[in-house]
Amino acid sequence: MPRIDLRSDTVTHPTPAMRHAMAEAEVGDDVFGDDPTVNALEERAAALLGKEAGLFVASGTMGNLVAQMAHLGRGQETIASAESHLVMDEAAGHAVVVGTSIRALPDRADGTLDLGLVAESFRDPEDPHEPLSGLVAIENTHAHSMGQPLSVTYTQAVADVAHAQGVPLHVDGARFFNAVVALGVDPAALAGPADSVTFCLSKGLACPIGSVVVGSRAYIWRARRARKLLGGGMRQVGVLAAPGLLALSDGPDGMIPRLAEDHANARRLAEGLADMAGIESPGGAAQPTPGRLDPARARTNFVIFRVARDRAAFLDALEAQGVLMVTYPHGTIRAVTHYGITVDDIDATLVAVRAALAETAGSTVGAAAAAGA
Ligand SMILES: Cc1ncc(COP(=O)(O)O)c(C=O)c1O
Repeated sequence: MPRIDLRSDTVTHPTPAMRHAMAEAEVGDDVFGDDPTVNALEERAAALLGKEAGLFVASGTMGNLVAQMAHLGRGQETIASAESHLVMDEAAGHAVVVGTSIRALPDRADGTLDLGLVAESFRDPEDPHEPLSGLVAIENTHAHSMGQPLSVTYTQAVADVAHAQGVPLHVDGARFFNAVVALGVDPAALAGPADSVTFCLSKGLACPIGSVVVGSRAYIWRARRARKLLGGGMRQVGVLAAPGLLALSDGPDGMIPRLAEDHANARRLAEGLADMAGIESPGGAAQPTPGRLDPARARTNFVIFRVARDRAAFLDALEAQGVLMVTYPHGTIRAVTHYGITVDDIDATLVAVRAALAETAGSTVGAAAAAGA
């Protein structure tokens, strides 16, 4: 049975045009700045987001890491949301590598931070007990709120609060272009208020690898040094940059406009799920209101929900039907749409979910875990 893999938008395979571009890519030693394909990708990324320069890195995590290293000194502190990738999913790189702490604020259901709370969270630089506030970071799209896109207005407002304190704003834009497409805005307008943005090529844009950090020329020079320190200086890496260049291009091989299809598929999935007995609101930032899953929460390519039965048993039954989803925090399940997932796949997923729900109807929450499953 063919698998419908909705675990993440990182499971995509490169398009045929990407594979061709990889084979044909002009390359050089990128540590010497000699790789024309990498240079073209970095320039294209910077131009799209309205910044002076870009830096190709191996992953979103490396992008966030070099972004922090280029903004912060040891002993400084970042203000970010408690459920952000930066806080929860980067192996404490901010502490281990950057040498900084994080002041973690609550995630709200629209993916934003309370700006009053952000303003109150800056430390007193006159008090030698306190760390020095050095960065504000936000996530766009915001994963744990079911991928809500953060608006230009909000980004500007949070930048204003940060800048009033003389502190820069970093956007972890792993799915930045999902936000751009969902909001129908110019990428440069959405990136404009931020001092740096990281976005991933290897998620919705379907590239096999890589992320790009953009910012001012001087900032990107510091990020480049940080990348070298981390061992991320790569050589004839144009073969890996080539798919990214294609993904960001205008025209038929560009991968940005088609994200709208992923968003429509996520919405279709959420609508189908919402009508099923046994599917519930995920709670928390993903959907604070209890009861029925609200399909309107699926504004980009994430669907997060809860099952009124044993989660592990349900996911196993679903996998047996040929559909993969993953566990997500707070007892929820996440499905992510992406390149390669069609409307028919969504409809087949809904059939599979119905079957998995029926099969696990008698299971009680936590039963499989208790049985060691
Ligand atoms: C919001 C966010 N930021 C950063 C990352 C890190 O990206 P990578 O897995 O390429 O290190 C991810 C990965 O899923 C993410 O979802």
